[in-house]
Order: sequence, then structure tokens, then C-alpha cells
Amino acid sequence: MSVQFPVQPIGRFAGASQPVRRPKEIACFSYDDNHVFSLGDASLKWYYTPQLGADLSKGFDTFEKLDDSKDEHLDSLLRTITAHEQDTGKRIDAHVVTWRGMMTKIMATPFDNQDGFEMNATLYQDCLFIEENNAYKVASRRNEGQTRRRHGPPLEVMQFWGYKFETLATLPAPWGDTERAVIDGREHAVVNNKAQYCSVVRTGIGKTILCLGGEVDAIWDSKPVQQGSPINWVELKTSAEMRGPGDVDNFHRKLMKYWIQSFLLGVPKIIVGFRSRDGILLDVQEIETHRIPETVNGRPNPSWNADMCVNFAAAFLEFLMHTINDEGVWRIRRQPQSPMIEVYKVEETGHGDILSEEFKNWRIKL
Ligand code: A3P
Ligand code: MG
Ligand code: MG
Repeated sequence: MSVQFPVQPIGRFAGASQPVRRPKEIACFSYDDNHVFSLGDASLKWYYTPQLGADLSKGFDTFEKLDDSKDEHLDSLLRTITAHEQDTGKRIDAHVVTWRGMMTKIMATPFDNQDGFEMNATLYQDCLFIEENNAYKVASRRNEGQTRRRHGPPLEVMQFWGYKFETLATLPAPWGDTERAVIDGREHAVVNNKAQYCSVVRTGIGKTILCLGGEVDAIWDSKPVQQGSPINWVELKTSAEMRGPGDVDNFHRKLMKYWIQSFLLGVPKIIVGFRSRDGILLDVQEIETHRIPETVNGRPNPSWNADMCVNFAAAFLEFLMHTINDEGVWRIRRQPQSPMIEVYKVEETGHGDILSEEFKNWRIKL
């Protein structure tokens, strides 16, 4: 039996924003160039202005690309939470633990009619753990590759542009500690998206306390000494150069995902590399995350509204916590263009593969 949460009409999410907490990093982890996990900030990168005029396609043939068809569940996040709990001696107080990407999909729902999603969720020790349903992700990627675009560069090359821009715009250490040759050599460096730095934060939307893990592209300066102080994270994006009003409208629509993604981890600055249609880096612009909602609202017929994203998420999270109140594995599904999100049980008992044995064993002891 499925329980439904109506998305439409979205007008009921209008009005002042539900309370939100400022995200605070509680722990972090890294993947190295081979995607091997470690606790801590080994793969943190520093922002440093890229050279304009670079060809973002250059190096596609040597791209060290992560095979993201593999199902990693919540494993790295749970390992990091375990280590954090071993340090503090107590359980984290979150009601929901998930990847930032899942919350991004949920928050975007009222204004995103095209993309569906599927997630698996399980209740364990009064906390809801939510992962992406990997089979759905893999299938929708395959569809995307087949149905989109008939002209222009191949989709894989366009996806490479984003990672190339990250390579052009970051350093493995602060610039003062980096040799000139490394700074200048970025244009020829091998692009590798297996390496990642991931921040694990405690945050909240409405009544729900969340523990989210997500990748952060770079830092502006350095982490503050005081734990819990805001961190000058940088989110990097690439986007097509704006040549007319249609492009401007499209960009403002894209700002919704940029904003949600950055808002959830407390990333204050987004740096957009504007590129030509064939992937030449033409311009770099800095955008303050907190100003995006007012910028979008200041335009005629805004295509989305940040407060409504927050209010929708607050209401949906409360609904989830009421609905998933029992053991087993549950599916959270939105079909493309559907006016509702469905929640139904797919396994009667246990936690599927959402929780690692390692994590359960640790929690039994705690
Ligand atoms: P851009 O979006 O900057 O072009 P992120 O911006 O989240 O740090 O992701 C970095 C890059 O990964 C993106 O660059 C894009 O190329 C690729 N990427 C992110 N999400 C993706 C998705 N759902 N499907 C395909 N590629 C994606
Ligand atoms: Mg990223
Ligand atoms: Mg990015």
C-alpha cells in the first residue's frame, strides 16, 4: 500500500519560511585519486582564479572518471558518523541522515516537473536513513544519454567540462604554499573526479534535524579554528554564456539547484565559469548564495521561490517521519511530472543494504 504526499497545489507552501538552522560541519572525509576513503580533509582544494580562454574539452581523452554506476549506499557517511560518535561518546541527534543530493531533489520538487527520483529509506534507532535507489539512478542516466540533444558536443564531453573547470580553478594547497609551476600547470593536469572532499553537517529544516553529507568543491581561505564557525566554502559551476533573454531565464532556473545545493551545506559562494557553446572558458563570476533568492524574486515571473522550497521540504520531512514509523525498507518515489510523491514498503523487515554491518554493530554497542 502506498501513501501519497501531494506536491500540487504548491500555493500552500507560500508564505514566510519555516525556521532553518545554519549548517555546521561536524566531520569530514575524503576520497583520494583512486576513490579510496579516509577520514579528514586530505582532498580539500583551494580556489584560485582560473585563466580565461582555456578549452574545457582539453584532456577529455585522459579523464580519470569515477564509475558512478556502483552502489555506495551511505557507507562513507556512516563511517564518518561512526568515527565522530566514537570521539564524542554519543549518538548524533539527527532525525534524518542522508546525502545532500537527496535533500536537493526533495527541496526542488515543487518547481521541478521533469525529473523523477527514487530513494530507499529505513528507520533505525529513531532516525530515518535515506539513500538513492541506485538502479533508478543508473537507468535514468542511460535514458538521458539516449534521449537528449542531437547536435553539439557529446554529453560525456559536456559533463567533463564541469570537472575540467574544477581542475583549472583549484589548487591542492593555499596559493602561498603552491609553486608557480603547479599554478600554471593546471591547464595540462589530468582531470580526476574520483577524488573528493565531503563535508558532514548538522542542519535543520522546520522541525527536522538533518545530518547531511555532500561534496564541497573548494575553500576560499582556510577553515576557522573555532569548530562550528561558518566556513568559506566555494561551489564551482559551469554554464553556457548568456546571449539573450532566453539564456538569462534559463540561468535563473538553474540557480535554483545551485542555491539549494549550497544552502544545504552552508556554502556561501558559488563561482560560475561561463563558457561558449563549444566549451571555451569566457568569464568567471562570483555569486553570493544568500542573495540568490532575492535576485530571482526581483525578476518578473520568477520561476521558483526559495521560501517555498524550504516550506515544502519542512512539510514533506514531517510527513515522512509520520509515515515511516515501522521496520523494513521503504521506497520514496516521484515519477516525472507526477503531482505527488509516493511512499511504500518494499521489504517487510530489516534495513536492506542501506545500513552497513559495521554501522549497526557500532550502534548496538553505543
Ligand atoms: P557543472 O554542473 O559545473 O557543469 P557539482 O557542480 O555538483 O560540483 O558537479 C560537478 C560536475 O559534475 C558538474 O559540472 C557536471 O559536469 C557533473 N555532474 C553533476 N551532477 C551530475 C548529474 N546528475 N549528471 C551528470 N553529470 C553531473
Ligand atoms: Mg562538486
Ligand atoms: Mg561544482
